[in-house]
Amino acid sequence: MASPGRGADVSTDPRLLDDAALERSSVVANNAMNRGRGLSGVNSYARDLGFDPFAVLAERLPAPVRWIDVCCGAGRALLEAEERFAAEYPAASVALLGVDLVGYFQRAPRSSRLRLVTASAHEWRPEGVVDLVTCVHGLHYIGDKLALLTAMAGWLAPGGILAAHFDPGSIRHRDGSAAARPVLAELRRAGMDYDSRRHLVTARGPAALRFPATYLGADDTAGPGYTGQPAVTSHYTF
Ligand SMILES: C[S@@+](CC[C@H](N)C(=O)[O-])C[C@H]1O[C@@H](n2cnc3c(N)ncnc32)[C@H](O)[C@@H]1O
Repeated sequence: MASPGRGADVSTDPRLLDDAALERSSVVANNAMNRGRGLSGVNSYARDLGFDPFAVLAERLPAPVRWIDVCCGAGRALLEAEERFAAEYPAASVALLGVDLVGYFQRAPRSSRLRLVTASAHEWRPEGVVDLVTCVHGLHYIGDKLALLTAMAGWLAPGGILAAHFDPGSIRHRDGSAAARPVLAELRRAGMDYDSRRHLVTARGPAALRFPATYLGADDTAGPGYTGQPAVTSHYTF
């Protein structure tokens, strides 16, 4: 597949945006979206993912654990995880990392266990393997969603977990028609699960995705996705 790129092939369709234009779009850069989910409770990662990230990481201790949250928003879930690890496992080797396009973090980390990075998930990539990768309602705003899903699956340590909210309906052919079928087929082939009720892709590492697709660009005028908020469709030739 084409690399996620500022160089998406938008020349053939003026409606499609490259990454730089998408990141300036009011659909991506707005105050209406929920950036403030905590770790557990009513408005939380545990609720939307169906599992508690802290519990998943704690289970893997005393081995060193690493969690990367892509499109982490205000970073509340990570900040709360940092607090809980400090209180319950002060000596454990824990690395927590959040990445978001907008540096709108709730507060600064309290320790070197947590880093909050302002960067675009279109380009940012970690070094080393990861025990837990989450992307909670973030892919809806990404241009090349298939490239980011492929990358995140590739970061997993053996037995590591990926959980990302994903709307297969947001993957489109060049003409705007739905391309969910080949995408769901590839997720199945790679041994990944798609929970249509939660709109959640999950995988256990190692997981290798290979989408036979070339990214063309993104459309920020497609209207609301399943969350009810305006979302971005991603267009490909298959
Ligand atoms: C609906 S919010 C979810 C935030 C957080 N995961 C939560 O649930 O509280 C989506 C987040 O994706 C971020 N985002 C959008 N495009 C991005 C990009 N290209 N790279 C990194 N983050 C991005 C937005 O800034 C926003 O914080």
